[in-house]
Amino acid sequence: MKVSFSTHALPETGVVVVTAVEEGKLSASAEALDTRLDGAITRAMKAAPRFKGKKDQSLTLLAPAGSKLERVFVLGLGKAEDLDALALQAAGGKVYASLAMRGHAAVQVVVDAVEGCALAPADMAAEIGFGAKLRSYRFDKYLTKQEKDDKPTLKAVEILCDGTAAARNRYKALDKIADGVFLTRDLVSEPANILYPETLAKEAEKLAKLGIKVEVLHKAQMRKLGMGALLGVAQGSARDPRLVVMQWNGAPAAKGGKGKKAKAPAPVAFIGKGVTFDTGGISIKPSAGMEDMKWDMGGAGVVIGLMKALAGRKAKVNVVGVVGLVENMPSGTAQRPGDIVTSMSGQTIEVLNTDAEGRLVLADALWYCKEKFKPQFMVDLATLTGAIIICLGSEKAGLFANNDDLAKRIFDAGEAVGEGVWRMPLADAYDKLLKSDAADMKNISGGRGAGSITAAQFLQRFVDDTPWAHLDIAGVTWAAKDSAVVPKGGTAFGVRLLERLVAEHYETK
Ligand code: BES
Ligand code: MN
Ligand code: ZN
Repeated sequence: MKVSFSTHALPETGVVVVTAVEEGKLSASAEALDTRLDGAITRAMKAAPRFKGKKDQSLTLLAPAGSKLERVFVLGLGKAEDLDALALQAAGGKVYASLAMRGHAAVQVVVDAVEGCALAPADMAAEIGFGAKLRSYRFDKYLTKQEKDDKPTLKAVEILCDGTAAARNRYKALDKIADGVFLTRDLVSEPANILYPETLAKEAEKLAKLGIKVEVLHKAQMRKLGMGALLGVAQGSARDPRLVVMQWNGAPAAKGGKGKKAKAPAPVAFIGKGVTFDTGGISIKPSAGMEDMKWDMGGAGVVIGLMKALAGRKAKVNVVGVVGLVENMPSGTAQRPGDIVTSMSGQTIEVLNTDAEGRLVLADALWYCKEKFKPQFMVDLATLTGAIIICLGSEKAGLFANNDDLAKRIFDAGEAVGEGVWRMPLADAYDKLLKSDAADMKNISGGRGAGSITAAQFLQRFVDDTPWAHLDIAGVTWAAKDSAVVPKGGTAFGVRLLERLVAEHYETK
């Protein structure tokens, strides 16, 4: 779906979207259109007395007399003072969702200044376009028998506003973010027979054309590095593991002192759990619902999509993405409960439950990242625990951090983009639950309580003093129902959040 921006005008033909705010106050363009249509909009509003311009409300006029218009869609924006970027994105999503399946190929949205709204019309337009674009995602490549009428027809949203140059410029970056989001959604949606460590690594390698340096480590190299925790998870699968390292060096080199060489600023780092399918291994999962475990690579998917978004808009920052890719299978070569593995850090782990595999993969990925890049911070993302779904449902992700500033920045970025996180505690008392009699630690606490926290405590043992945050995204990676800018399915939760974190705090101005 294409979003474009043109000079503010009132279209004579086609499908036109105009706006209203509470209490049913039409925008200037909607008023003008109403006059041109001899009061048809006013009459429609009388006929539909519950339409008050609230957000989520809309009013449709078909083929109004005395015009060549096919459809007039009056979109409610809600209260002017609540009209922020998120509300405008939701409005754009509503435009797409309401009009995509009705046979129109294109619609024109007329955006007027709204009194009391903090955003200029150009910024309003860009956010509406972004929302429409995000909502237009669809994963239908395997639907070979789709009826024509079941497919969306809407290919173009043209936004008519003042300040088109500014709107286009603002949208340019948003469109790159949407590209990253769509890549993540694609990866998360692919089934595990198509997307496994080797093929997922190949997808990451495609980012090279954006100027990202992509390195793929195979089993032999990981063995040399001593990544016994990651390799233990992988050993039951016929598919060999991969570790993918992506680097985007967009920061201008800092000036060195006299006679000194210019020094590249330390990178920020994102690490993703990439379990392309999680059967549980020998500690096998129940079969009901196991198909969901195709998206157990969601953390890796976000890191890859984030790299695409940042490189796409040429972010002025040095950033590393590391994803550990494995398939967790039961087999004659699979690791057994009770096995003791040695991680790259040298710490030994008693694997009491082979279904607590994500933390084993991340243990080596985090340690490797820290050792190799000495990053300013590390943020990992993982569909790590079912327990976080019990805590937070599908509304917010769990945030764990060893650093309050980083935690606050992540929380704020989440609020700003509509990807909420909630901070959970870390404490010595939880860490103690990982004590093992046979090794330096065990990979589960053994008790029923605090499963997401003990998982995070486990990860913390592999980050040393590096400022670090962990996002448990098990509840937010896959949506069971449509929402404003996220159709059901893979959400790409985390791409917009971390893009915002970088943009706000870590880019060279
Ligand atoms: N991938 C799962 C967590 C998960 C569950 C993600 C449901 C999305 C939806 C993870 O590898 C896992 O199996 N965790 C176990 C840990 C337990 C064995 C300590 C869990 O949450 O049950
Ligand atoms: Mn598991
Ligand atoms: Zn898992």
